[in-house]
Amino acid sequence: MYVCLCNGITDSQIREAAENGCDSLRDLRRELGVGSQCAKCARHARQVLRDTRSAL
Ligand code: FES
Repeated sequence: MYVCLCNGITDSQIREAAENGCDSLRDLRRELGVGSQCAKCARHARQVLRDTRSAL
């Protein structure tokens, strides 16, 4: 499922980035571009990030 429509980033990509060490929205923005445009995805992206990190 797409989380960031502006950049075409899916929840799987965010999960993978989180598993590879991304620990903040800033990291995600740097790695994938998530939230770099309209930023409407920020809340959802943060939630996916948090859920993945807490399951590690
Ligand atoms: Fe992510 Fe617009 S949906 S920056």
